[in-house]
Amino acid sequence: MNYAKISQVAHYAPRQVVSNDDLAEIMDTSDEWISSRTGIKNRHLSSDETTSDLATKVAENLLQKSGISAQDLDFIIVATITPDSLMPSTAARVQANIGAKNAFAFDLTAACSGFIFAISTGEKFISSGRYQKGLVIGSETLSKTVDWLDRSTAVLFGDGAGGVLLESASEQHFLAESQFTDGSRGESLTCGKIGLSSPFSKKGENQPYLTMDGRAIFDFAIRDVARSIKETIESSQLSAEDLDFLLLHQANIRILDKMAKKLGVAQEKLPANMMEYGNTSAASIPILLSECVEQGLIKLNGNQIILMSGFGGGLTWGTLIVTI
Ligand code: ACO
Repeated sequence: MNYAKISQVAHYAPRQVVSNDDLAEIMDTSDEWISSRTGIKNRHLSSDETTSDLATKVAENLLQKSGISAQDLDFIIVATITPDSLMPSTAARVQANIGAKNAFAFDLTAACSGFIFAISTGEKFISSGRYQKGLVIGSETLSKTVDWLDRSTAVLFGDGAGGVLLESASEQHFLAESQFTDGSRGESLTCGKIGLSSPFSKKGENQPYLTMDGRAIFDFAIRDVARSIKETIESSQLSAEDLDFLLLHQANIRILDKMAKKLGVAQEKLPANMMEYGNTSAASIPILLSECVEQGLIKLNGNQIILMSGFGGGLTWGTLIVTI
């Protein structure tokens, strides 16, 4: 039997930090409105780095920390909704930048669930026995997709990247998972709509900017996502008390508070960093994981039981329970 494990973590964020007060200077908003409704205080915005630049920094950091060579990698998956281009993929750019010439590479698009779907995919590659090592990275430059004239969305998002090295292991580390999509509710969170444009077709709608029905997404998170997290914990034969930490997508502190209550776990088990980064979509969970390791909350090879759960556009949602 082949197993996969998360053996290293890393994250990177652009240097430029923009506070709520900075935003209040360019739009009709306030630190009070943003922080009381979302918990967000700052976000990092890229002025000259692309999504693949951020992902490359994470990839280089993962290689350096783990001491393996880029040529040892079998695959690179980048979860993103803000690629540099549709082709080549962001992952292909990372592969070239780090010289991982033996790795196949592709992007995976599942919005804020992207990292969970991608790591689950990477785990299947490794547990098939065919591949031994791969990078799974969530990287986003959401600043290029928000409408900076729309205060209801612009204040929520930020740029950043995080990722993990997945390696083959002799014991089981992935204990449970669940993944869902409900495309019938997809219109409540959209980005980058591309209409038909051939001279022979009816012109479709182009909508480059991120649009969101905030209330609908909030309700979706605390109903559907909370229920699926509960069911995933039950399916693992564990109880919520057995979990050392629950790393949830960093959209809103009020969602985390409600989740903690619904799941019956102490708030301290749900670390939060949206205060510093805002919502970084596919990057939010790996940035949080990497910071938890940096702060010593989570120890690599420490056998802690960690639940990770992402939810967002699609609609998509997914949960993984792993030992790290
Ligand atoms: N500053 C000041 N006022 C604002 C701002 C702002 N930035 N944005 C909106 N307002 C105003 C509105 O115009 C409205 O004013 P009105 O009452 O005069 O009409 C008022 O504030 C209330 O607006 P609501 O949208 O009803 O505010 P709500 O309390 O629902 O909070 C929020 C909005 C924070 C977006 C919340 O709905 C939320 O967090 N939803 C979840 C978002 C989420 O989880 N997204 C994750 C997925 S993202 C992804 O997948 C890429």
